[in-house]
Amino acid sequence: MTVLKSDASNLRRVVAVMAGQPTSDGAGVKLTRVIGQQRLPDLDPFLMLDEFRSDDAKDYIAGFPDHPHRGFETVTYMLAGRMRHEDNKGNKGLLRPGSVQWMTAGRGIVHSELPEQEDGLMWGFQLWVNLPARDKLCEPRYQEIAPEEIPEVAVDGGGKVRVIAGSVGGTTGPISGVATDPTYLDVALPAGTAFAHKLPAQHNAFVYVFEGSAEIGGDTLARGRVAVLSQGDRIEVSAPKGGRFILVAGRPLGEPVAKYGPFVMNTVDELRQAVADFQSGKF
Ligand code: CO
Repeated sequence: MTVLKSDASNLRRVVAVMAGQPTSDGAGVKLTRVIGQQRLPDLDPFLMLDEFRSDDAKDYIAGFPDHPHRGFETVTYMLAGRMRHEDNKGNKGLLRPGSVQWMTAGRGIVHSELPEQEDGLMWGFQLWVNLPARDKLCEPRYQEIAPEEIPEVAVDGGGKVRVIAGSVGGTTGPISGVATDPTYLDVALPAGTAFAHKLPAQHNAFVYVFEGSAEIGGDTLARGRVAVLSQGDRIEVSAPKGGRFILVAGRPLGEPVAKYGPFVMNTVDELRQAVADFQSGKF
């Protein structure tokens, strides 16, 4: 006879809480590195999470001119501002507030991401999601999702969840066909409300608070804090004072990671090949 564990024993706990690290990337864009910094080098399958947020054009105007990627996926979620992207496969698009771009770089792509504004707030996230060895050299693919294509689910008490990837209740987000089976939710909770969600028990998961504050199992997360979660099939987040956060989860790959700038492979030899292929124009 199978003994069922109670819900509480499978509830995810906070394993670590930390702030991001201020840095710059691209042609000098100021940002906060949340994952991919010294204290949180990665969280398999997530290699990096950056928050960019400034209303001073000097901090973002130079953007991210032409640069390559191979072996993983870049996910841009815009909260405010407009970013124009263009790549060497002929894809072009405008990322506007509330939109998502899920780019599977696969075997290689060269692209640019440049601000389409000269003042005002630019705010959003870029997440890097690793690809399993078998998909690292796949054909590049874009999923470009307009704000109105991201479903919004109501939470008791007036909260709302934008479902980018994964499912909440019967509502499934528009991102599909991603190897690590990700969950990516943007959750806004008014003061005094809470959000409970089921997650695949073995997926790695984190919560990053970007407005107000939130609480998980007695740990308070201020704005700009990431909580790394234990495994478990359920998470509960409350917001006694109101807050907004992303909840992201994915299936860990458990494969060796060899990283060199914008290339993420499994071995050093594959990295050398990536650099050689890029330099000889094979992207
Ligand atoms: Co890029």
